[in-house]
Order: sequence, then structure tokens, then C-alpha cells
Amino acid sequence: MININVRQDFPVLSKNIYLDSACMSLKPRQVISKINEYYNEYPACAGRSSHKLSNKVNEEIYKTREITAKFFNTKKENVVFTRNTTEGINIIANSFKGKKILITDKEHNSNLLPWQRKCSLKILNSNNDNTFNIEGLNSNIKDVDLVAVNHVSNLDGVINPIKEIIKIAHENNALVSIDAAQSAGHHEINFKKLDIDFLSCSGHKMLGPTGTGLLISNKLNEIEPLNIGGGTVIDSNYNDYRYEEIPLRFEAGLQDYAGIIGLGEAINYLKKIGFDKIEKNELELNNILTEELSNEVELIGPEDYNLRPSIFSFNIKEFSSHDVAQIISSSRNICIRSGAHCVHSWFNKHKLEGSARASLYLYNDKNDINTFIEEIKKLIK
Ligand SMILES: Cc1ncc(COP(=O)(O)O)c(C=O)c1O
Repeated sequence: MININVRQDFPVLSKNIYLDSACMSLKPRQVISKINEYYNEYPACAGRSSHKLSNKVNEEIYKTREITAKFFNTKKENVVFTRNTTEGINIIANSFKGKKILITDKEHNSNLLPWQRKCSLKILNSNNDNTFNIEGLNSNIKDVDLVAVNHVSNLDGVINPIKEIIKIAHENNALVSIDAAQSAGHHEINFKKLDIDFLSCSGHKMLGPTGTGLLISNKLNEIEPLNIGGGTVIDSNYNDYRYEEIPLRFEAGLQDYAGIIGLGEAINYLKKIGFDKIEKNELELNNILTEELSNEVELIGPEDYNLRPSIFSFNIKEFSSHDVAQIISSSRNICIRSGAHCVHSWFNKHKLEGSARASLYLYNDKNDINTFIEEIKKLIK
């Protein structure tokens, strides 16, 4: 069994079993120190004043953009700091008004509503085992302007074949927007090699500060900022304005500098551990969960845990998902998510109230999983 040996960096784990990283990851003390460093040592604004403190913030933000660009293998001009995945997708959708968008039947509300409001939608049904329907994509791609799809589903953890999806979309002159909320920080994402057009993700799901996110695109010059104002223009008068260069024109108003700098530290932390170990840990733990529980619960998603390494989503007969979550929280301080996980559309289609969802990350270990299994088995009995 792999042991990443990082639990000492996450003090909350001494009293809790945290299996809700798909909602919000924990933050290591290194990230918290970096946030404090900003507030204690240079708590000023960036890109405006010329004093020493402000210059230091500029330098840190610049460094973070470089670290982030390298992490995703793209240019730093392609990296926009946002508040979360939702904001990134809203920025993109705003520029595709009236266009034909193809999404799957398993998208988070954040990758459904922004398109639903502005565009014409085509919904691609998943295969019966909840995996991505490549054949369906091939037969529905004609006339589509953009494919908006999650990389990893927050409903059941299924990894979508984005390389193949992007190839098919591009061969048919459609662009691709990847919702990487559940994959960034779990798997390597090579923006350039995958030939992604737009990617949105959340810092708070990849060890970063709450309320931080990224929009990455090599087409920022072709879309419109959603918010404009301070920091987004070079000049303005009463009739007109001239935009700043990309990516600055997308970052309106004063920013969460501590959060952005903290996100850079989270990326440094992830790089030190490496995706090999992160992926192996999730697979090993989900293997145990699946072996021990899949015959006893109603599993959501494919039986094969290799297809959904970070998530174990399930129901227990005669219990609501909220009851399951509350009972194991009270008995053993186990934190899981319950309900519809913001994928109401899929649960409504399947006439389900929701599911209980255990999600895994690099700080989880075998003890966490064994305690969780023990409690679920007790409930079933
Ligand atoms: C697949 C997916 N997309 C989008 C989001 C929205 O992320 P945020 O709330 O950080 O914007 C989530 C959050 O859980 C998610 O799991």
C-alpha cells in the first residue's frame, strides 16, 4: 500500500475522517502560511500602486501565474485567476450566446445552467454504466459549436476520455470547454498536448484557498470579459474604453491576492508529491471500498473502480443519503457528501433523491477507509 505520509500537514485530520474532497479539499499548513505571509508582510494591491509592498504583491502574482502556466503546460498569458470553476464557465458561456452547445446528461449545475441560459443545448446521454458515450458524440457532433464536458464527474467519479472527445470535436470544427473541477490536482492536465480550448477549475478542490479558481484558454482574445471595470482597461473616457492585454482584462477589480498566492503554493505542494502517487493512492483506496461494499450498497457508476478512482457514490436501501451522512458524522466524525451534488438533472432523470458520496484525495489512508467501511456495514445490518 502506498502511504503519501502528509497527514501532519492537515491538522483537522487528527480528529476527523475527511471523505468530502470532491466538495472542498483541505489545505495544507504550507498554503495557510503563504496566505498569512501576504496578510502579515505585504497586504497591498497589485497592478496599481508603485510602492514596495505593492511591488512585492505584483512579483508574487506574476510568479503564481508562471507556476500555474507551467503546471498546465500553457503560456502565462492564457491563465486567468477566477473565484471558482463556475465563474470560468460563466465567462465562456457569455461569449457563446445563441450557439449550439453539446453537454452530457451528467453535468454539474455549473456546467449546465450557464449554457442553458445563453445557448441552445444538445444533451448527450451517457452509456448504461454511466461512462461517456463516444458513439453518441460521433453521431451528434454535426452543427455543434462547442462541446462542454466534465473531465471527471462529481456524481460518480467517472473519468471522461477528453483526448478522444477533443479530437472528435476539432475534426468537426467544434471547440471544447473542459470542466476540470474534479480532475485538476488529481491528474496531470497537459493543456497544450490535449489541445484544449477552454478549461475551468477550482483552487479549493486542489489544496488551494477557498474562493480561488482558474480559467485557462488560448482563445482569450476571441471572447469577451464578463465583468469589466478597474484593472481591465488601459484607458477610458465618457464614450469608450480600451481593454488591457489578456489575461488582465478578465480580472476586474481588486483580487483575492492572498488566495491567488496561496494557490501557487498549493501547486508547488502538489508538484512535490507528484500525480503518480496521488493517482495510486486513490486507486488503492477505492479498490478496498469497492471490494468491501459494492455488493452491499446500490453503487452509482461503473463497478470497475479504475473508471472512477476518486469517488464512491452509493445508496443504502431504506436510508436517505442525508441520514447516512449524518449518522456516520455523529458516530465517528466521518465527513461525506449527501444529496444531489448539484447534478439535480441526472437524479431527476433517474428518479433518485440523491446519493451518499465518499471522495478521496492524497491525505486519505487505509485507516480512514476501514473505519468508513465498518460504519457503513453497521448501518446495513
Ligand atoms: C464537476 C464540477 N463542476 C463544477 C463545479 C463547481 O465548482 P465551484 O463551486 O468551485 O465553482 C463542481 C463543484 O463541485 C464540480 O464538481
